[in-house]
Amino acid sequence: MFGRPWCAAMVGFIGIAANWAAADPNRPDPHSLSRPDQVRVTHLDWSMTVDFQTRTLRGSASWHIVREPGCPPEAPLILDTRGLRIREVRAIAAAGAAPRTVPYRLGPVDPLLGAPLVIEIPADTTTVVVAYETSPEASALQWVAPEGTAGKRHPFLYSQCQAIHARSLLPCQDSPRVRFTYEATLVAPAHLKAVMAAEGPRPGPRPEGRDADDREAAHQFVMEHPIPSYLVALAVGDLEFRSLGERTGVWAEPATLERAAFEFADVEAMLAAAERRFGPYRWGRYDILVLPPSFPYGGMENPRLTFATPTVLAGDRSQVALIAHELAHSWSGNLVTNATWADFWLNEGFTVYLERRIVADVFGERRAAMESVLGLGELEDALAKLPPRDQILNPDLTGRDPDESVTPIAYEKGALFLETLAARLGRDRVQAFLKNYFDQFAFRSITTAQFEDYLRAELFRGGPPPVDLQAWIHQPGLPADAARPASARFDQIAALARRWFTGELDAAQLDTADWTTLEWLHFLRSLPPELNAEQMAALDSVFRLTESGNAEIACQWLEMAIRAGYRAADGRLEEFLSSVGRRKFLMPLYEALLTVPGGRERAERIFEQARAGYHPIAVESIQKRIAQPSPPS
Ligand code: BES
Ligand code: ZN
Repeated sequence: MFGRPWCAAMVGFIGIAANWAAADPNRPDPHSLSRPDQVRVTHLDWSMTVDFQTRTLRGSASWHIVREPGCPPEAPLILDTRGLRIREVRAIAAAGAAPRTVPYRLGPVDPLLGAPLVIEIPADTTTVVVAYETSPEASALQWVAPEGTAGKRHPFLYSQCQAIHARSLLPCQDSPRVRFTYEATLVAPAHLKAVMAAEGPRPGPRPEGRDADDREAAHQFVMEHPIPSYLVALAVGDLEFRSLGERTGVWAEPATLERAAFEFADVEAMLAAAERRFGPYRWGRYDILVLPPSFPYGGMENPRLTFATPTVLAGDRSQVALIAHELAHSWSGNLVTNATWADFWLNEGFTVYLERRIVADVFGERRAAMESVLGLGELEDALAKLPPRDQILNPDLTGRDPDESVTPIAYEKGALFLETLAARLGRDRVQAFLKNYFDQFAFRSITTAQFEDYLRAELFRGGPPPVDLQAWIHQPGLPADAARPASARFDQIAALARRWFTGELDAAQLDTADWTTLEWLHFLRSLPPELNAEQMAALDSVFRLTESGNAEIACQWLEMAIRAGYRAADGRLEEFLSSVGRRKFLMPLYEALLTVPGGRERAERIFEQARAGYHPIAVESIQKRIAQPSPPS
């Protein structure tokens, strides 16, 4: 009816300073069917009952809306949905006015984007109430049976909305350029605890609002800062809280709480270090929630409450960089947000750079340098494997699933871009620039183009860029002017790997007593990619790597075992693939299996056995990979 360009041009012409308009109105978000350029949501009142029996959430989402200037009075409100059962939609004209039922329709289902919920609203509408329920297959939710938890006695529910799964949980304008505040009530079984990535009631033994039979309890939450939909998050389970510092703490199942508190002991110090560098922490508390093993990511930066894989609990605090990473998103990502998923590197590349600055402050530059070198290795591997169009920082993702573009390009090429600027201009200048950037764009969503303008004006002060900006941001490959992170410690480790491989040293002669996970990873990655089974056995007999309980080391080792045909690790491989759900660990192992002779059958068999314990996001990625033909061996 009214084409997008017309409205966009009007918005640009009038030049309003709405959040949405700040994010380059001429480029619609290819991953949302909503039209925030016409009618935009600003606040959500959400009330849902969690039903473990039917694996559904049932309730209502009440959206406050505004019309953008210049848009026609009959423009509908369009929300993204996926698999939602809509019961009724009502509109409210003004505070206190009676809600009136309004017509709506669900548009055709797009396999990637879901279906638009098109709601016809009177021109004076201020609030739209959608009564609905989620599907048991909602892609944002994982309903974990008791066997899939640490305690094995209670079920567990958690959400993962990034990138475009919020729409399966909540009818919403599911684009990171749309921000809203919210209040939520979750009604859940009274013997479990409900948490959200928002301000909640202080944890206490007896939640209020129990029903007459004491079977259900209501939990209330408030998010007072405008956030994008992908940062809505909830979990329900047998959870307990332990304080770690003044503003920090951890939620975990009772069986895991002690280990979690040990592992995260440095969080308060990391928060202080991050604030010194990047400006005030604006979200109040910073807590961490330890999830069941099926969680498909290492961590997820849900505001005030990072969600974390239990594999982070290595027992030696070796995975602190992961927490530094999620904490850093409190600035890069949650405060200043990528406007579309094509701008994902503004979230992740910046966060990896910030993460390493936090690690440098709290654990020393030596450690940060090792992390950078490992990152460079991951980037080089990715560049060797990915087609050119997937090597671009600011790619065109139209028609593509943003979950599948989570590769080292956004993370490591993005971070290396900032490292390179720091090498050219000095770390202090980049540091000052970043601090101002977070302030300038706080609580806004920006595009790569907007960042480039800001960079040219503020860091380059209108002068010629000290790096090849075009190559960095818009072209594949590694730009010739890239900085080369180096670590003297790693050079020694690589030399040892060489001497072992050439037979100059026996495994037993390697002094590994003070090696951390980082040294182990670098040692293993410095070896030629295909050792033979005898060489693997020689290392294993001394270092017992097959038995390593450290998921990072185990994953690296098991991948090498597959490629080497080292069958003594077969049992451990199956066990690992059946007990870990983190996609970053699963994918390289399935990939390796699919490329060795006879591996496809093993991959398919293990997958059939283990998939019930995986998250739908991981299942989808593995299925897609299995569906591709194996390369000729
Ligand atoms: N935000 C990401 C996770 C994510 C990205 C989820 C894209 C869905 C779509 C999170 O901050 C992240 O990067 N996690 C990493 C850990 C990290 C230390 C690099 C992971 O899960 O591996
Ligand atoms: Zn991240």
